[in-house]
Amino acid sequence: MTEPTPDTDRERVQKVLARAGFGSRRRCEELVEEGRVRVDGRVVVLGDRVDVVRSVLEVDGVPVSVDPTTVHYLLNKPAGVVTTAADTHGRPTVLELVPSEPRVHPVGRLDLETEGLLLLTNDGTLTHRLTHPSFGVDKEYLVEVEGSPSRGALRTLREGVELEDGRTAPASVSLVDRGVLRIVIHEGRNRQVRRMCAAVGHPVVRLVRTRIGPLRDPNLRPGAWRPLELAELRELEQAVQVVPTGDGPVGEPAADEGV
Ligand code: URA
Repeated sequence: MTEPTPDTDRERVQKVLARAGFGSRRRCEELVEEGRVRVDGRVVVLGDRVDVVRSVLEVDGVPVSVDPTTVHYLLNKPAGVVTTAADTHGRPTVLELVPSEPRVHPVGRLDLETEGLLLLTNDGTLTHRLTHPSFGVDKEYLVEVEGSPSRGALRTLREGVELEDGRTAPASVSLVDRGVLRIVIHEGRNRQVRRMCAAVGHPVVRLVRTRIGPLRDPNLRPGAWRPLELAELRELEQAVQVVPTGDGPVGEPAADEGV
């Protein structure tokens, strides 16, 4: 049997939406009246309440974080810090760089020597979507490589590189400077950028993630973190929204590969 929801966790939908940044209370009432708001898959009407801790609230099919206990941190991971929760070799972990309560987890992984933006959260729905390959959120990297890649090498990186776990999807690749590339990929394979560059004869010297979907922050110094702003969170949620297929309820995308 499931536990009954305490009354303290149930709030009027329009109030929750207003707090989550969807505009004035009146504007949020309109969203409800327009039938654009669902709780656990069902369209709500004015006066309905939502369990902010357990229910999934969606606006236009986009899940919206409304649980006041969820947090979203953007960290600039320095090199030499591991992305796992604990390290058997005693190396510093990303969890040591952010508040310990509430407990958060990293969304995806950066290699030990990779620097740059990493999201940490306790928001399970968002994590699932951001790490699910079907949603394909763009990740942008600044990549310093050995040597100076030829046009042919750049073309190969763009069109797809044959790796041992299959050919990579088309990527956006530009030459920023001699031996410095900007690479945007939407897959999340293990050590993907390093393996792509090595495969075309230009091993990575330095790798920095500069963007996750709509999130960037050139002013965040290495080792520093900050909470996502509400507008950033909404943009991120938009970036991982499910496109309704028309056959049945708004669902999860088809799984194709692991993260
Ligand atoms: N690609 C890599 O090779 N390493 C990372 O840490 C991230 C992307």
